Amino acid sequence: MDSRTAPRDWTFPAGFLWGAATSAYQIEGSPLADGAGPSIWHRFVHTPGLMSNGDTGDVACDHYRRFASDVAMMKNLGLNAYRFSVSWSRVLPHGVGAVNAPGLGFYERLVDALLQAGIEPTPTLYHWDLPAALDDRGGWLNPDVAHWFADYAQLLFRRLDDRVKRWTTLNEPWVVTDGGYLYGALAPGHRNLFETPIASHNLLRAHGMAVQAYRAEGRHQVGIVVNIEPKYPASDQAEDMAATRRAHAYMNEQYLDPVLLGRYPELLAQIFGQAWPNWPAADLQLISQPIDFVGVNYYTRSVTRHDPDAWLLHASRVKQPGAVYTETDWEVFPQGLLDTLVWMADRYGKIPLYVTENGAAFQDPPPGVDGRIIDAHRIGYLHEHLKALHDAIARGVDVRGYFAWSLLDNLEWSLGFSKRFGIVHVDFKTQQRTPKASAGFYSDVIASHGSALARAQGP
Ligand code: BGC
Repeated sequence: MDSRTAPRDWTFPAGFLWGAATSAYQIEGSPLADGAGPSIWHRFVHTPGLMSNGDTGDVACDHYRRFASDVAMMKNLGLNAYRFSVSWSRVLPHGVGAVNAPGLGFYERLVDALLQAGIEPTPTLYHWDLPAALDDRGGWLNPDVAHWFADYAQLLFRRLDDRVKRWTTLNEPWVVTDGGYLYGALAPGHRNLFETPIASHNLLRAHGMAVQAYRAEGRHQVGIVVNIEPKYPASDQAEDMAATRRAHAYMNEQYLDPVLLGRYPELLAQIFGQAWPNWPAADLQLISQPIDFVGVNYYTRSVTRHDPDAWLLHASRVKQPGAVYTETDWEVFPQGLLDTLVWMADRYGKIPLYVTENGAAFQDPPPGVDGRIIDAHRIGYLHEHLKALHDAIARGVDVRGYFAWSLLDNLEWSLGFSKRFGIVHVDFKTQQRTPKASAGFYSDVIASHGSALARAQGP
């Protein structure tokens, strides 16, 4: 056949992981059950005025009690991997010290159920829910937090590394600090320029110490998950280009450079000014322990312009006329996933990558008479992003798995239940799960190892 007319082969590499992702506080509910301690998110949601609609994670998707049927549902969807997070204060109610056996037992039962269903458990140790007891001792601002985290990590490694092949330490340290310490929209809700680089640095030290603990205890793989949002200049004016570089260093390089290159981007000193400390070289050595893979969460891009009024970066995002925006006001831009993966391979070399989150909140149409929810926008989003991912692999980037965000509609942090990211609809009154049409699409892609991407998508 003439190569110009040969259909493209959309098959993914053998062993590719097809997963979905969630996090503990967003889905589990029962935050204080069976001896668990409160987390900073429990406190945040119970502080009046901080949560949209007064929503809380007290019940969320009730996954703590429904995990077995949720795993059965994942099996039906054909997933071969599941990314979830462990709630630190469920396992260690005070963050350190006495272990809460039922809490640890929950994750053990979850891992066993997943393995039984042929699904690879892919736990994240920290997805934003610091034990409140540790926040009382300074939380991420206390340098001891690196030891607390490593001890907690060691406990999990000892208990579960015989069954878990792939661990990640932190989820999106950038969001932890930007949302939690600089602008305050996320727990613990601080607004403090001077605290922000300290929290970042301690997160990275905690990551480094957990990796050391893993090398002592573990036999498989450990990595970190970052969110990357590629920045494109709004014009070729020098000021816009400089603003774009600042935004890129702050969001995309602030964590990966220290972990993978052993240094912070120089622009951070300029961005943080007098709030930027001079870090000891030994810390950078600790932070840059070799890791086995990087997880990247990709949702959108930012077209960036110079904006003298925008603190901290003097940069702001320019809306793109004609582009599609999601319910969280994020531009749908699949090319950005390709650009991100290619950039990561260029800058950081041969380290294996996983797309550990990708997805979109849209206002889903109500169920039809047959009960089906035809979330055509989300199907389009997943379809285009999976194609971009395939393009990256075709260009030689070593991407080994993809996790849709999210398995379930869930608590979208301070936005509460108002934004639905799930490929499975959750009725929060009855807890009934209904796979949306996007789940069916994703199942087809998985069952065909990607070939279904060739088909034009309609519901
Ligand atoms: C987080 C998720 C969150 C999602 C959508 C990511 O930043 O890891 O917890 O729900 O984006 O906002």
